[in-house]
Order: sequence, then C-alpha cells, then structure tokens
Amino acid sequence: MDGLKVEIKPGIYWIGVNDRVKDLFEGIWPLPRGISYNSYLVIDEKVAVIDGVEEGFSQEWYENIERLIDPSKIDYVISNHMEPDHSGSLPFIRRMVPEATIVLSEKAREMLNDFYGIRENVQTVGDGDEISLGERTLRFHEIPYVHWPETMVTYLMEEKVLFSGDAFGTYGALDGGFFDDQVDVDYYIDEMLRYYANIIGMYSIPVQNALSKLGGLSMDVIAPAHGPIWRQDIGRVIGLYDRWSHWEGEKGVALIYGSMYGNTIEAMEAVGRGVISGGCPTLRIYDVSRTSFSILLQECWHWKGVILGAPTYDTGIFIPMDNLLSSLHHKRLKNRICGLFGSFTWSGGAMRKMRGIVDELKWEVVEPEVPFKSHATEEHLEQLEALGRAVAERVMQD
Ligand code: FEO
Repeated sequence: MDGLKVEIKPGIYWIGVNDRVKDLFEGIWPLPRGISYNSYLVIDEKVAVIDGVEEGFSQEWYENIERLIDPSKIDYVISNHMEPDHSGSLPFIRRMVPEATIVLSEKAREMLNDFYGIRENVQTVGDGDEISLGERTLRFHEIPYVHWPETMVTYLMEEKVLFSGDAFGTYGALDGGFFDDQVDVDYYIDEMLRYYANIIGMYSIPVQNALSKLGGLSMDVIAPAHGPIWRQDIGRVIGLYDRWSHWEGEKGVALIYGSMYGNTIEAMEAVGRGVISGGCPTLRIYDVSRTSFSILLQECWHWKGVILGAPTYDTGIFIPMDNLLSSLHHKRLKNRICGLFGSFTWSGGAMRKMRGIVDELKWEVVEPEVPFKSHATEEHLEQLEALGRAVAERVMQD
C-alpha cells in the first residue's frame, strides 16, 4: 500500500469504497460493521475497470480512479454482475467517460438496458472470450446463477488474479486492511458464511458447477466484490465454498427455540444438557424471536446438527419459527441431522408442520420427537435430554 493506493500486483489496484451507513443489505440482511463494494483498476496499454459500486458512492469511486490515472484513459468497464450494489455507478462512469466500453455477458446486456437505459458502446462476451490489454489479458468465465443468471468472473491470465464478483465475498467494511493477511481473517470468514447462507446458498448447485469450471485455473489472488482480497490462503476459502455448497456442516449443534411463557425454555435447557452429555461440546443456543434470521440461517449452515423447538401458535408453528423454517426451505439447505420438540395447550399442530418442512428438505430426523402439553413433566424432561443426546451422538459419529 502506498498512501491511499492499494496495489494488488504491479498496475492492479483496489478502487472500491466502504459503505458504513447502510444497515440492511438488500433491505434484509443486517450490516453491523458495514460492507465494502470492491472495484479494481488494471493499468496496461489499455485500461480496464472491473466492477463498479453502489450509485451513491460513484463520486468517491471516481476520485479513487483519478488518484491513479486520468479517467479519460479508461478503455473498458467490466461488469461481472448487474446487481445495483456493483452496477449502480455505471450511468455515472458512462456520463464521465462516454468512450469507455461496458463489457458484460449477453444476459447482463438486457439488465443494463432495463436498469439504466444504456444500449450504446456495450460489448458482450461469452465463456472463454478474451480481451487483450497489451501485456496482459482478461478472460471471461460465465458462472450463471452465482447468484444471478448473468454472473461471470474475470481472470487476469498473466497475473493469475480472479475477479470473482460476489463469490468469496463477505459482509464487513474493510477496516484499514484490504488483504486477508492484513485483517482479522476469522471475523471475515464468519461473515463470508453469513453472506453465503443469506445470499448465495440457495444457488449451491451452480456454485458447485462454478467451482468445477474454475478448478483448473491457477490463482495467486482472488479479488471478490465484497470484503478482503484473498492472497494468503486461497485454498482455505475455496475449500469452504466447496463444503458449504455441498451442505457439509461442522460437528456442532444449533439449538433454536421459541417460547412465550418459559415452558419451551425449560424444555430447551434439558435438550442442551443432553447435547453436552451426548459428547458434542459445540452447542449454540438461540432464541428464534430475538435473533436475526440472517444469523440463524448462518448457524444452520454452519453446524451439522439443528434442533428446533417451539410452541404451537394459532394451530400452527410459532410465527418466528415458521419464518425461519420458511427461509430454510427457501434456501434449500440440505443434509442436516435434526431434532424436534415443542409444546401445545389446546391444539397441537406445530410439530407435525415442522416435521413436514424438514422432511421436504430431506433432513434426517432423530428420535425421539418430543411434544408436550403445556408444561414438561419429569418424564418429558428425560425424553428431551435423550433427544439432545441422540442428536449429539449422531452428529459426532457422522
Ligand atoms: Fe454484491 Fe449480488 O451483489
């Protein structure tokens, strides 16, 4: 790093911005520590900008470019992905540098028109197409549905740099460091999983396809569109994407409960004791009503065991638990070992409906399922502990 310049390799720079104002990404996902919109500049005989930023940061982004080069020298603006957190600045750069050609996939061309009415000086590229910048060459690889249909990545062949778009991206602004070896990497890995579970996870099969397709590329650097640039341990993040896209959970249990009057809390405590006595030391307990479902999705993606307990409400599933199960169903999380328990007073119904959803996800449901009426008896508490123990033993043997 030289002053405000962030050089990745000679002539390749980060020119992104930090958004520390937005509190909900996509209007859904909490951003307790912001997010970065990464953009990159490659200076060769020709000059390319790779990805943009959200519209409101266009001026700051442009000033980052001005620090490095006269923007009128930009030949290409590559758009790997048309979601507006990256494409929102395209109208700005088109006004400022009308000669620069916008390069994108065929599917993105229509989106560029639909979002911004831009039709002129646009070049579409397909799988394997290349653009020479002089000494160095950009090659494009389509990775459809990671996580929109038009998505592609850009590979700078001679430097072995993969500009990966949202793939390998994380929540969290870049707090003073830009590379994985400069930052608290475990924090960003946690946020990479939350980002994956929230945004990418539903497209896990396209992710597997993309990993297969890109597996033959030699990479020194992965430069994603959010979060730190990976250069120290690229194998680690590729390995994590491989595991997450195959729905491989770590050995641990997420125990998620909802309770109105404390009866399900008492039951949950017995389940928790069972998990520990069953030999699984990693137990994370969450109140479904008081925990963002962004984090609950992350934790369900994280751990092999998921135990859910909730009362019946309006003859159905306790509403916050219903919302979580609906999100898990929507995200198509697979391959979990599951336990179920819950209370009812004048009408059952929640357990059967919860079971129906996890069956559709093809989760393995461990016995005993434990419904109880109003208040858990000593016998119920023993069954609940046995449930926790059984899930733990199954998780640890898997
Ligand atoms: Fe970072 Fe799918 O946009």
